[in-house]
Amino acid sequence: MNIQKVIDDVYRFSVNIEDKDYLFEGLWPIPNGISINGYLIKGDKNVIIDLTQDIFNFPREITHQIEESQITIEKIDIIIMNHMEPDHSGWLREFCKKNSKAVIYCSKKAVPLLQAFSSVPPERAVAISDGMVLTVGDYELQFFDTPNIHWPETMMTYERKRKILFSCDAFGSYGRVDENAIFDDQIDGEKHQFFEQESLRYYANIVATFSSFVLKGLEKLKGFDVEVICPSHGIIWRENPAEIIDHYKRYAEYSKGPAELEVAVVWSSMYGNTKQVLNLVIETLCKRDIPVHVFQVPGDEIGYILGSAWKSAGLIFGMPTYEYKMFPPMAHTIEELMVKKVTNKKVFRFGSFGWAGGAQKDFEARTMRSGWDILGHYEWQGTPKESDKATIQRLLEAYCDTLIAFTRQASKK
Ligand code: FEO
Repeated sequence: MNIQKVIDDVYRFSVNIEDKDYLFEGLWPIPNGISINGYLIKGDKNVIIDLTQDIFNFPREITHQIEESQITIEKIDIIIMNHMEPDHSGWLREFCKKNSKAVIYCSKKAVPLLQAFSSVPPERAVAISDGMVLTVGDYELQFFDTPNIHWPETMMTYERKRKILFSCDAFGSYGRVDENAIFDDQIDGEKHQFFEQESLRYYANIVATFSSFVLKGLEKLKGFDVEVICPSHGIIWRENPAEIIDHYKRYAEYSKGPAELEVAVVWSSMYGNTKQVLNLVIETLCKRDIPVHVFQVPGDEIGYILGSAWKSAGLIFGMPTYEYKMFPPMAHTIEELMVKKVTNKKVFRFGSFGWAGGAQKDFEARTMRSGWDILGHYEWQGTPKESDKATIQRLLEAYCDTLIAFTRQASKK
């Protein structure tokens, strides 16, 4: 990949993680890849905003890209670290060995992380204050604390003359970025949809827990005229930055509920008895024109389940009882949903048991503080009889009525 001009003397350098087996944060599958972007501002003093991860050949690749702009690493005067997570700071340790003069601008909370992650002494850092402006040639770089989007030390950098927001993880997405299509006006409608889906999954996996901070950050941004958003993952938004801002606002507001009139159905089955009810669930929802997203556990990846659950106002779980408790892989899935604060959902649960129930009690105990409204549940012994199915159908009809009313009520607000 080559370094690419954004505007004037602002350049984007970037790599894509292409390895389909790679897990982002050691956890999240990224079959469509992800870009890691940083930015260079050339001038009498040269500035870099965020670095890259120290994996594969990324440091060598980025060094090469920077050199394409007739700058060497040794000629960088200022490094702005908006965020210290190693996908952006991993190269910092080696970078600072090659360049002993560059001053690092970062938030106060990031200073000890420089030492902890990169062995960079605090003497090399300038801790910014909220709103502080650093003038470098014709560029006025203003720094803003944006804590917990998504680490406590995160900040953003706003170039005031050109109205560029260097937002780091915020407004980012999964998905590799093609070299010839790095801007929002260079991609077609299908690709816009792709990045919308990938930004939702990225949000649900990486940022969702901190949605209240995202809403605070968005409030803070309201006072700024943003013409270009340069995130550290995904495409650059210069034609319509409001598009990705609106997506993020919507994702963050899902935490306050209700989300979309959709249902994520997550199911497990040991011998097929719980599975026998699955089609009835899907058909009942489809007849009510409610979009359904179906995931099997174990099997489907939690990263995808989270994305769908985050966006859906309704959650339905089908799982059998296993030794008086929830089927263990489903218990793990529920735990992940709790960690990511998937909340304000209308919920239904069904499942079979062998010699005794217990999954429902376990389910209710584990989700007690979830903010979920469990509208109904049904358990049966062994194979579901026609009478069991009839009862489930009746309960599901009532569930759909409530779910539809819940989302309609919100759309009127
Ligand atoms: Fe892209 Fe939180 O690092």
